[in-house]
Amino acid sequence: MGNDLIQIASAQPCHAVAPGVSAASADVARGRTFYLETFGCQMNVHDSEKVAGVLMARGYRPVDSHQDADIILYNTCSIREKAAQKVFSRLGAFRQGRPGAGKIVGVLGCVAQQEGEVFFERAPQVSLVCGSASYPRLPDLLDQLESGNRRVKGLELDTEGCFETELTRRDNRYRAYLTIIEGCDQRCAFCVVPMTRGPERSRSSAKILEECRRLVDEGYTEIQLLGQIVNAWRDPSPAGWSFADLLARVAEVPGVRRVRFTTSHPRYFTPEIVQAIDSHPTLCDQIHLPVQAGSTTVLERMRRGYSREEYLEKIHCIRKAQRAISLSTDIIVGFCGESEKDFEQTLSLLADVEYDQIFSFKFSPRPDTAALGFFDSVSDEEKGRRLTVVQELQRQIQLRRNQALVGRNLEVLVEGYQPRLGQAVGRTTHNRVLNFPGVPAEVGCYVQVRVTSAGPNSLVGERVTRAQGGAASA
Ligand code: 5AD
Repeated sequence: MGNDLIQIASAQPCHAVAPGVSAASADVARGRTFYLETFGCQMNVHDSEKVAGVLMARGYRPVDSHQDADIILYNTCSIREKAAQKVFSRLGAFRQGRPGAGKIVGVLGCVAQQEGEVFFERAPQVSLVCGSASYPRLPDLLDQLESGNRRVKGLELDTEGCFETELTRRDNRYRAYLTIIEGCDQRCAFCVVPMTRGPERSRSSAKILEECRRLVDEGYTEIQLLGQIVNAWRDPSPAGWSFADLLARVAEVPGVRRVRFTTSHPRYFTPEIVQAIDSHPTLCDQIHLPVQAGSTTVLERMRRGYSREEYLEKIHCIRKAQRAISLSTDIIVGFCGESEKDFEQTLSLLADVEYDQIFSFKFSPRPDTAALGFFDSVSDEEKGRRLTVVQELQRQIQLRRNQALVGRNLEVLVEGYQPRLGQAVGRTTHNRVLNFPGVPAEVGCYVQVRVTSAGPNSLVGERVTRAQGGAASA
């Protein structure tokens, strides 16, 4: 999904020396602090949880501001130009002569991979540049930094396997992100991901299930399977499961109450995935299926590998399910050569499908992509107009769909509590946000809430049952 969200690793108590980390290396960092800021998708958020885990196992302590940190890390996103620029504005604070100068500053993730060593020239205050495919080498890179090396890089893209670590420090205590596939082999004309995250690597079914069981033991009740193209997952082990098989098996892990997965590519979206949802109550009624554009001509130019009609067949299959599955999508407006007529086809697709949520973006030409060689024909002003039109249409659709839920009882996982408002914030199986008067003790519990009113982006309700515990009460 394409929302640019920012999270800061929350301060948590230090780990004891963790497996695989020598006492000597943990001692080096004892008492030292790090600040880690994340830009971009859930994959980046989860990567940061892994990076934070590795650092904490070495004795580093997370802090909430870069002023208090010995090491400052930015986990970056380069999906659109604006996202990529954010890191350069952050780095300004550490230029020579500024108060932050002299700290260790590292750039991780997609911008690091994309810029590579040039980063050291563009921003001499940077000591570490590391793309996500090189995260398995992070401990080694940190060793080099700790022994005084000023320029350290991890830019290999051809790494085998995934960055798996038992040290991962998850920010959320109830919902656990779990990577099942890394990288991307698609070559969508607009997208940098294959260049920044490397080729597809699936984790084995046995490893994934083992981790799910461990997560349940740790108290997590919701598991969100992650992959840039999550449904391109193929079991590399002899078991040879399909993605739908994996969904079913994860859903059956005792103690799991909710399973989500993101992001699916329409090209790999099979009826078996819908069947798995239909027959496993713990699989959430939610599918994110980015369409990008409503016109087959534009889809072809984007190299998406499906036509409007083929995409709509997948939607039809989802709509035929016994369960009411909520749908969300990503839209790009103003892609190279998108005519007014093409654009109208995006609008008509939105009106036909009636998504529950969309993430919409102006096309942004990116380095090393095929579209960089196309004529970026739609002016920025016109892209802005199209974006406003899309968002206004979708606002009306969401308002209508949400209002149809008034009077219904929905189960939510309570994800937070706002003391100032006395409001609990829950999320439904459809991934809708539902606010209701609650108590802090309910956070992490599943409760039934009656919807009393609805806006385009969230619901309001009142609790109809007492709180149930987490995993044990499934
Ligand atoms: N310009 C605009 N939006 C983009 N996305 C990916 N690349 C670009 C780009 N160059 C959007 C797509 C994708 C989401 C994560 O970001 O909609 O699904």
